[in-house]
Amino acid sequence: MGNCYGSPVTNNHSPSSTTKLPTPVASRYENKKNGFVGKSVTRTTKVARNISGKRNTGGTTERSERKAQVILSKSSSRNNYTEAAGGVAPPPPPPDTAATAAPIESIPRLKEFTLAELKKCTQNFRPDTILGEGGFGRVFKGWVDASTYAPSRGGVGLAVAVKKSSSDSYQGHQEWQAEVNFLGKCRHPNLVRLLGHCCEENQFLLVYEYMQKGSLENHLFRKGQEPLPWEIRLKIAIGAARGLAYLHNSEKVIYRDFKASNILLDPAYNAKLSDFGLVKMGPMNGNSHVTTRIIGTYGYAAPEYVATGHLYVKSDVYGFGVVLLEMLTGLRALDSNRPSREHSLVDWVSPLLHKKKELKKIMDPGLGDEYSLKGACQAAELILKCLEPDPKIRPSMQEVLMVLEKINDIKDQKPKNKKGQ
Ligand SMILES: Nc1ncnc2c1ncn2[C@@H]1O[C@H](COP(=O)(O)OP(=O)(O)O)[C@@H](O)[C@H]1O
Ligand SMILES: [Mg+2]
Repeated sequence: MGNCYGSPVTNNHSPSSTTKLPTPVASRYENKKNGFVGKSVTRTTKVARNISGKRNTGGTTERSERKAQVILSKSSSRNNYTEAAGGVAPPPPPPDTAATAAPIESIPRLKEFTLAELKKCTQNFRPDTILGEGGFGRVFKGWVDASTYAPSRGGVGLAVAVKKSSSDSYQGHQEWQAEVNFLGKCRHPNLVRLLGHCCEENQFLLVYEYMQKGSLENHLFRKGQEPLPWEIRLKIAIGAARGLAYLHNSEKVIYRDFKASNILLDPAYNAKLSDFGLVKMGPMNGNSHVTTRIIGTYGYAAPEYVATGHLYVKSDVYGFGVVLLEMLTGLRALDSNRPSREHSLVDWVSPLLHKKKELKKIMDPGLGDEYSLKGACQAAELILKCLEPDPKIRPSMQEVLMVLEKINDIKDQKPKNKKGQ
């Protein structure tokens, strides 16, 4: 299959790759030291705020410092325009995402919802229908008729997730457009399905299939969650690897925002990638990389990309290695609540991954001893390969997938019988 874009899009080799574009969301920041501009992490225990602007399912409070992911630069907010540019809102940035050069295409299988319909199906965006919140805005649960997608009563028909932009920002619109153009044309069991979209009254909305088990991030890190068993973690890793391999091999794009919160789970823990607003066309004409504005999430973004704006297909492989490390250890990629030398999971834990004895100590305690040590050792080896500083040495996602499938075949990973069973 070719790539999803109707018309070829030129890679952006503009100098904006090193020039910071002043468009972070209020809760996101960019680091001046690394050539980014912005503000430091705000600590708050109030609702709806952590440093990636996220809110808990059910509307409960999350501590901002609990989550140490920070978007390098994604959507815009007036607040941060002010901070980043000394009080003067700069002109809109040039298009960055691959699909944004093209207008919204008419994709017959996507429904064009009206705002009234989306209000109706989410009971006027009632707060108790909020599933989560990210940089783009809030995500609400709604209900539609399974065949016509007309709004239906709560609990009747098909459940959907409605993502609503929090502002009328240029960047938010860019991401919305990129997502519609890309995801509207792609179908893959490991990519979340987009059902429709809406753009009205300066609000941008996206309607997706509802993923009942929410995000991997919630399962790994939210308090009170049952720890995911080893086999389920492997199943999720394999599903996500398939999704990423498909993007690289069939669509020839770089995903750029691989992280635990973008891996959504269906009732059987099948993993589907979501959020394609940052998707970027991969390198063409024999080039090894594309040069682009630095955008993504701290902790997951590959070092070469953060340092230079050079984005490789293998930059996604680095992000995959980070998520796999989170799945093994049950620890966040970045966490400022940990002692300072442990803030970055990769820096702290990587040297321990070589040694079986050390590995056992850093495995997620939620797993108990109900995992295959042989499998964990092979996964640790794979993580180290994915995290190689030189992108060219990292494995392809196809290779990653093969290794994960082999680990999945290891026989000694069935949970040991507990006493009395
Ligand atoms: N299709 C969906 N089905 C169920 N929950 C979803 C869906 N899309 C998003 N969510 C929930 O909403 C949260 C916020 O999503 P998003 O806006 O993509 O931000 P982020 O990826 O930064 O978490 C997700 O982490 C997830 O918990
Ligand atoms: Mg997301």
